[in-house]
Formats: sequence, structure tokens, C-alpha cells
Amino acid sequence: MTSLKPILSHIDNIPSTPGKFKPEKSPLHYLHHRLRLHTTLPRITLWTLVFLAFIFLFFFLSPPYTAAPRRGLRTTATYFGSGWENQVKASAKPRSRSGHTVLVTGAAGFVGSHASVALKHRGDGVVGLDNFNSYYEVSLKKARKSHLLDRAGVFIVDGDINDAVLLRKLFGIVHFTHVLHLAAQAGVRYAMVNPSSYIKSNVDGFVNLLEVSKSVNPQPAIVWASSSSVYGLNSKVPFSEKDRTDQPASLYAATKKAGEEIAHTYNHIYGLSITGLRFFTVYGPWGRPDMAYFFFTKDILKRRTISVFEGPDHATVSRDFTYIDDILKGCLSALDTAKKSTGSGGKKKGEAQFRIINLGNTSPVSVNKLVSILEKLLKVKAKKKVVLMPRNGDVPFTHANITLARKQLGYRPTTDLETGLQKFVKWYLDYYGGKKKGSW
Ligand SMILES: NC(=O)c1ccc[n+]([C@@H]2O[C@H](COP(=O)([O-])OP(=O)(O)OC[C@H]3O[C@@H](n4cnc5c(N)ncnc54)[C@H](O)[C@@H]3O)[C@@H](O)[C@H]2O)c1
Ligand SMILES: *[C@@H]1O[C@H](CO)[C@@H](O)[C@H](O)[C@H]1NC(C)=O
Repeated sequence: MTSLKPILSHIDNIPSTPGKFKPEKSPLHYLHHRLRLHTTLPRITLWTLVFLAFIFLFFFLSPPYTAAPRRGLRTTATYFGSGWENQVKASAKPRSRSGHTVLVTGAAGFVGSHASVALKHRGDGVVGLDNFNSYYEVSLKKARKSHLLDRAGVFIVDGDINDAVLLRKLFGIVHFTHVLHLAAQAGVRYAMVNPSSYIKSNVDGFVNLLEVSKSVNPQPAIVWASSSSVYGLNSKVPFSEKDRTDQPASLYAATKKAGEEIAHTYNHIYGLSITGLRFFTVYGPWGRPDMAYFFFTKDILKRRTISVFEGPDHATVSRDFTYIDDILKGCLSALDTAKKSTGSGGKKKGEAQFRIINLGNTSPVSVNKLVSILEKLLKVKAKKKVVLMPRNGDVPFTHANITLARKQLGYRPTTDLETGLQKFVKWYLDYYGGKKKGSW
């Protein structure tokens, strides 16, 4: 019998799909090789070309992970350097060994900037992350950075939650015990203008963050911002966590609801400890210019007519306005009561904590009342036009049942709308008044 061995070993050396067979050498090798064959270019020119090729690749191949539009293109390569790493490490260091080490996403945002400062002040280590997108005035985000974060000693990374390389790099430098995830595309009406920005940040970005979080060792506990908007068209008040949340009235609400379901999956499969907080209309100093209390203030001061919404049959529109300091107490308490994640090496080792909790004020106020409080504080009579609320995402009322927050977080909101707006108006006049004088 003749041995088949030599034939088999010969066959072994033939690639299964000969046409696709390629030796494993880097493109750079070929570039170098070709240039050497065909030209007598000096080495320096060659490396200049290689460098230019890289720039070209970065510009055209790196996906622009923009939520709302951004100022310019930024790639991960911009960050890494030893100075940068040291700043991240210094900012992440808690004052005492019992302190948390928290990654705060959306740290240049309204809630994120306040939360970062509050954590840092009580001794936790904090690193911020924000892409400074231009959904609303970037100058306000930058001012929060210089006036709140820089002063408190919080370092903020200018980057996107979709950037997995950046996130892994951050988790590689720092062992984060917690993530406070506040980065999102917010606002209900803008979803009709730029729907994909909601999917990019609130779904894709959240998944990316969870992917990185589940694979690091040890895994962080995650606290993130959902929204009262998930209650959608519900009419039973007050809204309780047990109520149905399958009738969203905006794409924004749908992405927040999707986030809650996605969070559940990561909790179930990978053992990530996750707490979703449903915020109810948060307001206060350094707030968001796209929200009614903010642009009403601006327009009343400019003597512009404001549009006051009413529901069908002249029903009043009302909101459970929640002051920023109360929301902060809820966020910090959620971090403190968060149990450890149970997974490691990307595998679940046991059941992990999963919570969804309302954070509201429990005393809804009508838009008319909101306007009359602002008139009093600004000492200007508003020019009002009553408009039927368009059906583009807003819901007629919100009202939180906070029994669960009280039980789980010891949460007790203490600021009424009048007191909170007084602080907002004072800040507003300082900020925009001072701006004109050039002090900002
Ligand atoms: N303010 C409220 O009334 C309210 C109510 C319910 C829920 N929420 C939620 O609370 C969180 C904070 O809200 P806010 O009012 O501070 O909003 P905000 O817009 O001021 O803050 C969000 C921040 O996230 C950043 N960001 C957005 N997409 C990003 C991305 N892909 N990568 C990195 N950074 C990104 C933005 O630049 C912004 O600074 C959000 O998740 C929001 O949906 C807020
Ligand atoms: C609030 O929610 C709790 C459950 O968390 C429930 O027991 C209670 O009845 C609710 N209160 C109202 C007024 O609906």
C-alpha cells in the first residue's frame, strides 16, 4: 500500500481558496517595498507619505460619532500621552480609601456637571467624559467646565461614549467602582429634526458603555438616567414604577425605554449591577436652554411673546418640576446603595442588583403657574399666547410616585418650584448679565 501521507501534506499546503490566499504582511510593508522599488525617494519623503496616508485614513475612515453636531473631528489618537494619563489618574483618586471612583458621562451637561462636583466635594474620585456636542450652546458646556469642573478639580475627557478604544483606555488607567451615566441626546422635539442622534447616543452609545463595563475586571456598578417620559401617554397618576411603559410619545422616550430593557439584558447575562433613575423635569442653575423654564426666562426678559401650551379642551399642562439639588441627592444615594456587580471576565457569577426608580418632586405645577412665578422673580409681565400643545412628543402632565425612592434611597425632595426658580433666575442674570460685561 502506498502511503497517502506525502499527498496529504501536499494538499495541506494549498490554500482552500487559492484566489484569496495572501501572505500576512502589513500594508505598510508593501508601501515601503513599492516605493523602494520604483523610486529613489529619500527615506524622509517616504515617512512623510506614510504620515500623510495616516492622516488621510483618520479623516475618511474614522466614523464621526456625533450625536448632535460637533465642532470638529476628534480621534482617539488626540488624547493619549503621559500628561493626559496623569490628569486622569489624579482626578480619579478618592480622598479616602472608602471613597468611590466614578466615571461620569455627560459631565459637561446640566446634571452631569453638578453631579461631578458634588461627588468630588464629598471626597470621591471623578473622571468626566463628554463630547461637547452643539445640541445647545457649546459655550454653556464650556463654562460649566471652567466654572464648575475645573474649580472642583474634576478632569473631563472630551470624547464620545461610542468610542470603545477610549473607554477601554480609561478603564485601563483607572479602576472605576461606579459609572454615573448621564450622557444622552435629550429633548423630545429635536427627535423630529435629528432622529439618528437619539439612536447614536441613547442606544448605540449606551450599549458600547455596557459592553466595556461588562468586560472589565472588576465590573463597575452602573447608575444611569432614564426619564419620566417612558410613562408616555399614561393617564393614571401619580406615575409608579409598576405602571406600564409601553406607549412612548416621542422617539426620545422610546430610546430611554429601550435603554431600560437593554440594561436588564446586561444585568441578566453579565451580572452588571444597574440602577435606572427616571428623572422628572430637572431644573436649576446651569440648566438646559432647550427647556421651557429656561427659554421662558430668556423671552420674558427680551419682551418676546411666549407660547404657553394647553391640552385638548383647554386642559392645563403641568410638570413635576424637580430641583437639581434634590436630583443630586437621589443620584448620590443611588451610587451609595448600589450593590457590586457580580460578573468577572465577562461572565456572570450570580444574580446582580437591578433597579428602576422615579426621582421626582411629587407636586406638579401648571405652566401658567410657572410663568407667573417667573414674572414675579423677573419683575416683568410676560406676553403670552396660548397654543394647543402639538402632538410631537410632549405629554400633558407628569407626576411621580416616589415611594420606592424613599424606601431604596432615603430620597426626600425639599425644594419647591418657587425657591428653586429663585436660584435659577439669580444664576441666569449673573451668567448672561455678566457675559455682556465680558467676565465669562
Ligand atoms: N434635565 C431633565 O429634565 C431630564 C429629565 C429626564 C431625563 N434626563 C436625562 O438625564 C441626563 C442628563 O440630562 P441633562 O439635562 O444634564 O442633559 P444635557 O444635555 O445637559 O447633558 C448631557 C450631556 O451629554 C453629552 N453627550 C451627549 N451625547 C454624548 C455622547 N454620545 N458621548 C459623550 N457625551 C455625550 C452632551 O454633550 C451633554 O453635555 C440625560 O440622560 C437625560 O436624558 C434629564
Ligand atoms: C405608589 O407606589 C407604591 C409602590 O411603590 C404603591 O404601593 C402606592 O400605592 C403608590 N401610591 C399611589 C398614591 O399611587
